[in-house]
Amino acid sequence: MKVLVCGGAGYIGSNMTELLARQGHQPIVLDNLSKGHRSAVKNAEFVRGDFGDFEFTVDVLEKHKIEAVMHFAAFIEVGESVEQPLRYYDNNVSRTRTLLAAMEAAEVQKFVFSSTAAVYGMPERLPITEDTPKSPINPYGETKWAVERMCHFQSQTGRLRYAALRYFNACGAGFDATLGEDHRPESHLIPLIIQAAMGKRDNIKIFGTDYPTPDGTCIRDYIHIEDLAKAHLLALAKLDEKTELVYNLGNGKGYSVRQVIDCVRKVSGKGFKVVETDRRAGDPPVLTADASKAQKELGWETDYPELEKIVESAWKFHTTHPNGYVSK
Ligand code: UFG
Repeated sequence: MKVLVCGGAGYIGSNMTELLARQGHQPIVLDNLSKGHRSAVKNAEFVRGDFGDFEFTVDVLEKHKIEAVMHFAAFIEVGESVEQPLRYYDNNVSRTRTLLAAMEAAEVQKFVFSSTAAVYGMPERLPITEDTPKSPINPYGETKWAVERMCHFQSQTGRLRYAALRYFNACGAGFDATLGEDHRPESHLIPLIIQAAMGKRDNIKIFGTDYPTPDGTCIRDYIHIEDLAKAHLLALAKLDEKTELVYNLGNGKGYSVRQVIDCVRKVSGKGFKVVETDRRAGDPPVLTADASKAQKELGWETDYPELEKIVESAWKFHTTHPNGYVSK
């Protein structure tokens, strides 16, 4: 299948592109390189440009005879979304609306959308099922939920078939650790701890040690990037039968910040300084997925259920790419 991967030069998109290519599909990456890295795109045609440009995107869809679109080109920083909500509404909602309009114009029906556990806000019950009430607590989560609703209503017209995949904490490096995390600036826990272990930063800060969890630090559900990518392929195939799909993607197992730090210490064999600081605004104490719906309906199975294996892949990427991706 010819699949347009919007944001295919980014962390999750580049892993998806690689998997599509290895499975015999034909991915075409569309990325403006505002965040992504050209050298993360290895086995696909690359088109530099903006999915928010209607005419350009219609042209790309038609010229390449695209059959499905996967969309990874959102802004993802919770804190930044609180500081600059309009920027998030612009990129994550308005421009995604334009992408859907371009798909409609080019008569491309299938759409796989990167959603997030942030749509649930501070859930009352754990693990989180897909029907848990949606009450995002920041503009990032709200913009993802807005796109899910937009897709829902567009699918009701019969002109869109979509899967919204709600990721928990994407992490690790895929394809023999060649495609890893390189956000600039970095804000995610595992790469930051690894930078501390590599001596690239003075310490790792724990944001809050007074949460109602066994060790006082936040608990998250860490899911390997290749496992995430696999679920997208299964969801794409399922869109032949169904017009609307929504799945949580996580391992269902939570690890605290302290446990993740211990794991990096073990995998790397390095010591580093840990500094306990105040809570970061907007962090729910625990987020763990009930992903049984994806397991049952898609036959999704994870290859990396253990945190140690995930961290090993991330460690390998960072130590073999000490300055991240070298070219932009
Ligand atoms: N944390 C620290 N120190 C750090 C960085 C993070 O203690 O230096 C803590 C955070 O407070 C949080 C946990 O580590 O408790 C994980 O933090 P991340 O920033 O790695 O991930 P989040 O859970 O905040 O965010 C992830 C995705 C976001 C998405 C969110 C949705 O990275 O893009 O899940 O739930 F919005």
